[in-house]
Amino acid sequence: MTPPNLPPDERIGSPAASRPPPPPDSFSLMAAPSFANLTVLSHPLIQHKLTILRDRRTSTRDFKQLVNEIAMLMAYEVTKDLALEPVEIETPLEKASGRQVAGKKLTLVPILRAGLGMVEGISQLIPSARVGHIGLYRDHDTLRPVDYYFKIPSGEQDRAFFVLDPMLATGGSAVAAVGALKRAGAQRVRFLCLVAAPEGVRAMLDAHPDVPVYAAALDRELNAKGYILPGLGDAGDRLFGTR
Ligand code: PRP
Ligand code: URA
Repeated sequence: MTPPNLPPDERIGSPAASRPPPPPDSFSLMAAPSFANLTVLSHPLIQHKLTILRDRRTSTRDFKQLVNEIAMLMAYEVTKDLALEPVEIETPLEKASGRQVAGKKLTLVPILRAGLGMVEGISQLIPSARVGHIGLYRDHDTLRPVDYYFKIPSGEQDRAFFVLDPMLATGGSAVAAVGALKRAGAQRVRFLCLVAAPEGVRAMLDAHPDVPVYAAALDRELNAKGYILPGLGDAGDRLFGTR
């Protein structure tokens, strides 16, 4: 069935978010109508785990595990339109035709540090995935990204890239990371995050309208320090226990 759209006033943290939940059979992909590039993955398991993740009492150990589990569940949805190609194999009994994912190995690109937390979960689902790395941190005063590392596998033009970062706040880091990938030759890029702010989704839409953004939640807004509200705090610090 066609899932209902998620109205802007049902962003997490909005007063209207306390409305009764949608009917049980409507859980599926929900496209937020105000952002053509955004898909909110509202699977009940993703939402359940995200709620525990947001809780300030959640330990570093559980936080790490939950980020990986959510990333794995998201990957299942985000890969569902990957192209397949026919392949001939032999079962123990006879020759048979099968199908395999077409093209070069899919490439995960975590934005350091916090994006690292999403790699293992997705790799469990896609063990052959290659992994590139982009090092960026957000300057605390200017909120602008500062880059310090870039390494991705060759064959950029033919690869599908999944850029990973739990948080899409101002969007500065995501815009810079995708820009760097494109300058290196990447043509097929998707961005996966756990929590997105409207400001970040807008920034991605303006800078990279060809890049689909997948999130577990679209939150209400940014605070004066560029943190997502209600958000989950500093993802890198909570993941690595560096608070
Ligand atoms: C966080 C987060 C994103 C970025 C999002 O990283 O993991 O990369 O901030 O903010 P933006 O959308 O406003 O750019 P941070 O800069 O804290 O670095 P860290 O992962 O090394 O802690
Ligand atoms: N980076 C984070 O880790 N959390 C936010 O809320 C915003 C940026």
